[in-house]
This record gives sequence, structure tokens and C-alpha cells, in this order.
Amino acid sequence: MRVPFLDIKAQYQDLAGELDQTALDVLRSGAYVLGPHNKGLEEEVAQMHGVRHAIAVNSGTDALRILMEAAGVGPGDEVITTAFTFVASLEAIVQIGAVPVLVDILPETFDLDPAAIEPAVTEKTKAILPIHLFGQLTDVRAIETIANRHRLTVLEDAAQAIGSHCEGRYAGQWGRGAGLSFYVTKNLGAIGDGGMILTNDAEVDANSRSLRVHGMGRERYYYDAVGYTSRLSELQAAFLRVKLRKLDEWNAQRDRIAQVYLQQLAGVEGIHLPKLHPGNNHTWHQFTVRTSRRDELQAFLKEREIDSMIYYPVPLHLHQPYARFSGAPGSLGVTEEVSRQVLSLPVHQHLSEAQIEHVVASIRAFAASPAAV
Ligand SMILES: Cc1ncc(COP(=O)(O)O)c(C=O)c1O
Repeated sequence: MRVPFLDIKAQYQDLAGELDQTALDVLRSGAYVLGPHNKGLEEEVAQMHGVRHAIAVNSGTDALRILMEAAGVGPGDEVITTAFTFVASLEAIVQIGAVPVLVDILPETFDLDPAAIEPAVTEKTKAILPIHLFGQLTDVRAIETIANRHRLTVLEDAAQAIGSHCEGRYAGQWGRGAGLSFYVTKNLGAIGDGGMILTNDAEVDANSRSLRVHGMGRERYYYDAVGYTSRLSELQAAFLRVKLRKLDEWNAQRDRIAQVYLQQLAGVEGIHLPKLHPGNNHTWHQFTVRTSRRDELQAFLKEREIDSMIYYPVPLHLHQPYARFSGAPGSLGVTEEVSRQVLSLPVHQHLSEAQIEHVVASIRAFAASPAAV
């Protein structure tokens, strides 16, 4: 039985009639940029995350770049973050001229280790960029305390964390702002690229709105900053609004599948299951296990037609363009070990009961098999 890692076509099928009609409506409206669907999407996501402002942009990467600039992070400023993330987190920091300072992660939640932050603070440190990886927030309470003590700005990479909160306080409410991604494979995915900045800060809001259209001020063709072309297309905004109405249902289904994995795989030898920080919900953008027999497990699953993915196989400080931002290999020991152990299992909302059972039974069979020497 084949178990695909994702099923993008099934998402379309769930909503086909509405999406088709939406495309036609937008085409016929002639309003293709910064139109009513952009405004509507911004209002709906702001409301969902309990923030005052949401600014739709072209991608999650742009959301991070623009957010950091809007919050006053600039050339030479140090930004504390991790190397266990998608490349865009670091790319955004480097592209605005700031300097990523990479610290180690916690192995069970895959995110920034709060104990590693303070030793990394220098007089140049401006911000902390926690990455809310795989669908749950980082240890936001600890990060907030440290940031307050050192007067640092917290900016959240929430690209994988739409709908994620700690005790009801959503991404975007913990830092001065957060960046979301609507890339195709995200829990809320566009039909292409898209992103959004969330903030309660009026200055970050105003700066972000200006930066997404070339740094234009209130008056047309007068510029306050060197900006970007980063509007979200009206077509994408309209599609995202249709899909947003399904997001709670889809995330609930992901959670149901994750709970089956957590129950059925508990205690299976050699398989470490993901953990949650206290107070967090989890939106299961990824369900990621750790095992010292990772490559063997992936091959075993593949033989049984179960797709799996390695997020992320090589931490970013071991890639040539980012090597200068860390010490020698081994300096981020937990990050490097976790990269050798992680495997993400299919957890999308369109899995059938039989497919879920097939994944569970296969992992159990694997664990009972002797390790290759
Ligand atoms: C952690 C993280 N940060 C940033 C991004 C960048 O988002 P995008 O691909 O929409 O530019 C992504 C997504 O791909 C991501 O997973």
C-alpha cells in the first residue's frame, strides 16, 4: 500500500468547486494586487492569531527579511538563531546584512536551547530569531525572559507554525513580530508562494507595508526606504482564504493521526517520539522521530511504499555559504547528531486509516528486526 508524504491534489479535490469559482471571480474582477482578498486574508489571519496587524507578502522568506528590517535589524547586528532549520531563516538574516549567531538545539523538540542563548549574547546582539519548527512554538516563555533581561528583540520564524500557540498566545504575540509561510506544502499552502508578517507593533506594521512596495511612503512615488517588490498576488490571497476555512479541520485531522502515532509507537525500541513544550499545542507540520538507525528505517519504509523525508539532513553551518557563521564541525553537537537521526513520517490530513496502520505496523516491524551491522 502506497503512503505518499503529501497529497496536494487531494487538497484541491476537497475544495475544487470553490477554488475554481474563486479563480474565475478574481480574473473577472480585474483587481490583481493589494485588493479585497489581500485585506480579507490579512484580517482573518490576524484575528486567528490574535494580533493587531497582518501584512501579506510574496513568501515566507520575504516575511522574515521585511520583518527584521521593519523592526530595525540591520547591517552588523547579531541575530541569535539555530542551524537546524530551512535555509531561508539564515538567508534572510544574511541578506539584510545582519550576522546569524548559531546556537545549539534541544534534541526532543528540535528548537533553540534557551540555555545556549545567554553565552552567545554580545554588545552587537540585536535580536533572537526562534524557529517554531515542525508546528509547535519554541520555549517561548524562557526566550521572552532572556530577551527582556538583555533588551533584545524577539522575531519569530513561524513559517511552519500557523495555528500554533502556547497557552492560547499564538505565534506573533510572543515576539515583536512573526513571519508565516504559505508555500505549497505548508499546513495552509498557496498555489505557489506566499507569506505574511504578524505583529502588534504599529511601527513594524507601517514599515512592513512600506517595504513590501519598494519602501514607498504614504504618498505614491515618494520613498522612505530601499524596499522590495513583495506583494501577495490577489489570486493567491483568494485561494488562501478558501483554504483557511478548512484549516482547523485539516489540523485536527493531523493531530488525530499524530496521536495514533504517539500511542501506537510509544515504547517501541530505538524510536524517539517528538515531545511538546508545556502549554503548547502542536499543528504537526511534521511528525518527526529520531532513531540511530535512520537511513535503515527510511529504506525499510520505502520498500513498503511509505514515503518519508529528512528535515534537515545537513545543518546549515556545514554548508559552504554559512560555514563562516559557526565554529568547526562539532561546535553544534546536538544539532549535528539530531540531523543524523531525524525522519519525518507522513501526517497529512488525507491519510486513510489503513495507511496510518500500515505506517505503524511497518515501524514496529522495523524495530523488531535486527540492526544491520
Ligand atoms: C523554517 C522556515 N523558515 C522560512 C521559510 C521560508 O518560507 P518560503 O518558502 O515561503 O519563502 C520556510 C519555508 O519553506 C521554513 O520552513
